[in-house]
Amino acid sequence: MISQTLPEHIAIIMDGNGRWAKERGLKRTAGHEQGAKVVRDITEHCAKIGIDYLTLYAFSTENWNRPKLEVEFLMKLLERYLQNEKEIYLKNNIRFKAIGDLSKFSLSLQKIINEVQTQTTACTAMTQILALNYGSRDEITRAVNKVIATNKQITQENIEANLDTAGIPDVDLLIRTSGEVRISNFLLWQSAYAEMFFTNTYWPEFHPNELDDIISDFGKRQRRFGGV
Ligand code: FPP
Repeated sequence: MISQTLPEHIAIIMDGNGRWAKERGLKRTAGHEQGAKVVRDITEHCAKIGIDYLTLYAFSTENWNRPKLEVEFLMKLLERYLQNEKEIYLKNNIRFKAIGDLSKFSLSLQKIINEVQTQTTACTAMTQILALNYGSRDEITRAVNKVIATNKQITQENIEANLDTAGIPDVDLLIRTSGEVRISNFLLWQSAYAEMFFTNTYWPEFHPNELDDIISDFGKRQRRFGGV
């Protein structure tokens, strides 16, 4: 489908699971369940068309404020998703990486995250990055504290080298689904020059064809990075 410039790094704020479910008379959790299926479809599609990095906002530092049962459901869903996904990552040669403060998760979730990261470390087709208990302000604060702890100067390079995304190129294309037009504390540093796309589609209905259209549009944008 696409012949023009491909973004190297796509980041997505997956939003609208709850509204999608509500409009169908379903529980919010059904929206998350369907959302997880879309995570797989979009990940496989990105790997197929040659995207190098795909970062997905799966759980924010603020999401702990949701009802306890919903948080518990999301934790279980993540664990189940990673268990099931192991084979699929390997089959598609996809490397898995998590960013965020993982120390707040249960030991069993931390274990499966580490396991899948280790098992897929040699995969080269694409890197899928899940942002888990992630918030940009938290990430930048942790990074600055790491720089201070090593007695180094606070420079952009030193901060960048201590972000969870160290070694990963900046975001080229940032997408948010569900009609909300905000960034919600996601990859603030890394998206400094990202092209942004907002779609009304709820995440559980987001389809690879729509992603192709957005990528096509991205190819037509002129990126000046502050120049002329
Ligand atoms: C936003 O929808 C979505 C989330 C807070 C979590 C994203 C989770 C998934 C896509 C499913 C699980 C992910 C993986 C990787 C298995 P919302 O609940 O805020 O929707 P609403 O704004 O309509 O209420």
